Amino acid sequence: MNIFDFQKKKENNEKISMITCYDYTSARIISETSIDCILVGDSVAMTMHGYKDTLSATLSMMAFHTAAVARGAPKKFLISDMPFLSYRKSLSKNVSAAQELMQSGAQAVKLECAQGNVNLIKHLVESGIPVVGHIGLTPQFIHMLGGYKIQGRTDESATRLKEEALLLQEAGCFLVVLECIPAILAKEITASLSIPTIGIGAGSHTDGQVLVFQDLLGLNTDLHPKFVKKFIDGQTHFKTGIEEYIQAIKTGEFPQHEHCFEN
Ligand code: KIV
Repeated sequence: MNIFDFQKKKENNEKISMITCYDYTSARIISETSIDCILVGDSVAMTMHGYKDTLSATLSMMAFHTAAVARGAPKKFLISDMPFLSYRKSLSKNVSAAQELMQSGAQAVKLECAQGNVNLIKHLVESGIPVVGHIGLTPQFIHMLGGYKIQGRTDESATRLKEEALLLQEAGCFLVVLECIPAILAKEITASLSIPTIGIGAGSHTDGQVLVFQDLLGLNTDLHPKFVKKFIDGQTHFKTGIEEYIQAIKTGEFPQHEHCFEN
């Protein structure tokens, strides 16, 4: 995939698939699937480091995980999240932050909201950095939003989101993530844009979908948001495997002859 393939998929009505990933081993597995692209999301702070929200993701954390995923899935299109406040400083610092993620192996960066970011997006695009926008429930704004709430439910907020989506497109974004907004609004936004939309908790009318790796594989023990579908019960598989290992140690079934070195 490259940025033009995303556009072609929208034009041909082909859905785009995106998954988050944060580590080398998972990236190796994903690299053997037909997924269109990988997002090293700032959700890494929660899924891999146990923080309560994404505000704890730092640039060095994002660069570290981006590099690991890039090594594991070198042929997949890789988007890396610009973490909290890393793109709200001086132009030079913002560009350096994007540079670090690109030089860690990303092919594009993602940032939250349009307001206040339009000039930076234009500058990054003019500098050769593809940018993905992200609107709706933007977790880096959790304290301004008053919690993890569906956005765009009032006429005023829906209008603002439609305007933001257009602003992101005009600024040069090649994709927009729509998170936790009513399906009907996501449908309108998707129809109004020439660039593709990727939904998470935004219904079925977006041009593609993204889910968090741990959520879709049933590995998340803490959160069960309504929009998540567990495609396998990973937790049970993991626990069963670990319990079988423990039992095999206790009974002496493991290790066997084939697991031992003769000399
Ligand atoms: O960080 C993340 O996982 C994300 C997705 C939810 C879109 O931004």
